[in-house]
Order: sequence, then C-alpha cells, then structure tokens
Amino acid sequence: MSEIVRFSVSIEAELLEQFDRYCQQYQFATRSEAVRQAIREMLTRSTWEVGSGRVVGTLTLVYDHHRAQIRDRLLELQHSHTDLIVCVLHVHLSHDLCLEILVLRGAAERLGNIAAQLRGMKGVYKGDLVIAGTEEGEVIPIAGGKTRLTKHNPGS
Ligand code: NI
Repeated sequence: MSEIVRFSVSIEAELLEQFDRYCQQYQFATRSEAVRQAIREMLTRSTWEVGSGRVVGTLTLVYDHHRAQIRDRLLELQHSHTDLIVCVLHVHLSHDLCLEILVLRGAAERLGNIAAQLRGMKGVYKGDLVIAGTEEGEVIPIAGGKTRLTKHNPGS
C-alpha cells in the first residue's frame, strides 16, 4: 500500500457544507474517502479525455429494439470490434426496450469512438460510457499531459 499523506485544502464554507451533505447522502465513511474517490474519478476521466492509454469500461445502452437499424448496427459494430468487447449483457426491459451493457477493453480512443457511434443513433434513450480504470492500474498524470501507469494495489 502506498504511503498515506495529509494535505490541507482551502475551501469556501458553503462549498464545504454542500460537500458534507453529499458525503452524508452517499454514506462516505469519511471526507477523505470521498475526496480520494473524486480524485480517482477525475484522473480516470482525464486519461480517457486525453485519449491515450488502454482502459477498461462499460457502455450502458437502453434502446428501442423495434428499430431494426439499431439492432443491425449494434450487431455489426460488435462483430467488427471483437478485440474490444469482452462481454455483453442483454436484458429485455419491457415490450419495447432493451438494456445492453458492453464491457469494453482497449485503447481509450477506440472506446470513445464506439460509444459515440452507438449513443448517437435514433432510438437510443441512454448511452453512458464509464471508464473503470486503466487496464493495468491507476493513472498518474505527469507533466506535459502524458500519463504514467502504476500497478494497482487491491489493498489500497
Ligand atoms: Ni431485448
């Protein structure tokens, strides 16, 4: 486990009150835990926005299966990116709607690309791409906008 360090933060009282309410609402054990999670999410997002590195993520889609165009395009995309798609979970939500969750692994840019193509189709009601992290571990941005990977420690 990496060494724990303390640092102080200057923040407006009102913002801190909002943050404390947030921590309470989402049942964070401590403020530190909430800050750690926020920082991790920020770093993960920045890697993905930079479009570098290999990442693991999920794409959640809710769509109307009556639109044949969507079904065909989904299948076509999945068959042409077999190296990117780890698995797919399909749930028939209702008479009209399907929920599909794709677990993706590969270059961040490609994940973003496939998500954009699927999300943008008519009849897709929801399309959320969540980057869980890098393929190998956490991400630490370094000077110059590049990223460096470190091995993930499950105990940390
Ligand atoms: Ni279905």
